[in-house]
Amino acid sequence: MVKKILTLLMLVLLPAKTIGAEILRPYGPVSPVETLRKLNHLLLGNWPDEGREFISFIVAFKNYYFYVLIGVLGVLFLHYLIFGPRRFEHRGERIFYYGLFTRLVHWGAALSMTLLVFSGLATLFAKILGGGSLVMSLRSLHVGAAFAFAPFAILLFLALVKDMVPAFYDLKWFLVMGGYLSRQPRPVPAGKFNAGQKMWFWLGTAGGLVMFYTGYKLYQFTAPVSFLREMLKIHLYLGLAVLALYFIHLYMSLVAIKGALKSMLSGYKDSEEVALMHPKYYEKVSKD
Ligand code: HEM
Repeated sequence: MVKKILTLLMLVLLPAKTIGAEILRPYGPVSPVETLRKLNHLLLGNWPDEGREFISFIVAFKNYYFYVLIGVLGVLFLHYLIFGPRRFEHRGERIFYYGLFTRLVHWGAALSMTLLVFSGLATLFAKILGGGSLVMSLRSLHVGAAFAFAPFAILLFLALVKDMVPAFYDLKWFLVMGGYLSRQPRPVPAGKFNAGQKMWFWLGTAGGLVMFYTGYKLYQFTAPVSFLREMLKIHLYLGLAVLALYFIHLYMSLVAIKGALKSMLSGYKDSEEVALMHPKYYEKVSKD
């Protein structure tokens, strides 16, 4: 008898439990993953998708930096192999070029930007350096060097801006690639500074200050996230151009034009160099 009752109960209760569970499923507890996903969406809006998109943008940028670095250094190395450095006798008359103030602020900007470039690269390629305290220290150095760079950039801008205004003949200088693709030195269309130097001036000083502002906003980290993302984009795009021209500037002033370094130390340039590479300025000072 007991057996019969138990069998009957099982026959009724088991299907009832299954059917009941099916009916109650939509009202029961949902999976925790699903709940968190909904909560995430509520709190962060579209950020999970945008964030993923943004992270892939940063990863792509790391590659761009790598390619630009290798590309620029490779091209400069090839240029050196094919055309070699340009030498001037430095025996003739000397022409005064850089006042003491300009030289001092130039070297201030040069030193602080050198720290910025290398600590910036270390921050970007932190993984290769193994992350950790070394990268964290270099990141702090990046911030410190930026505060040192900004006043020098402003002063250098003020010291040189009057001779850095673009002129029509700058286009012609670009057309002949500044005469750098020839072993035979010929006069090129340029005033006190050539188009390449002007480009570096504007990017290094004015562009450098934009980098300071965008970097400062990122350092503060108080603005809305969409604004911070824009700041980082500008910082990375400009940084890429600064990186390329920084190495070109180093190559030109330390390797390709022998004696350029001397001129930023003593303030004087050899007249033969000025006559060939800055003929419009040479004409002007010869008349004076
Ligand atoms: C270690 C880094 C640097 C070195 C070794 C260096 C060296 C030199 C030298 C030797 C000159 C004289 C070139 C000539 O008249 O033929 C020069 C000029 C100049 N430098 Fe630098 N420089 C450095 C970084 C910078 C930085 C960071 C800036 C700006 C932010 C800068 C801006 C200029 C400008 C505007 C000129 C005058 C035009 C020109 O030659 O490009 N330099 N630099």
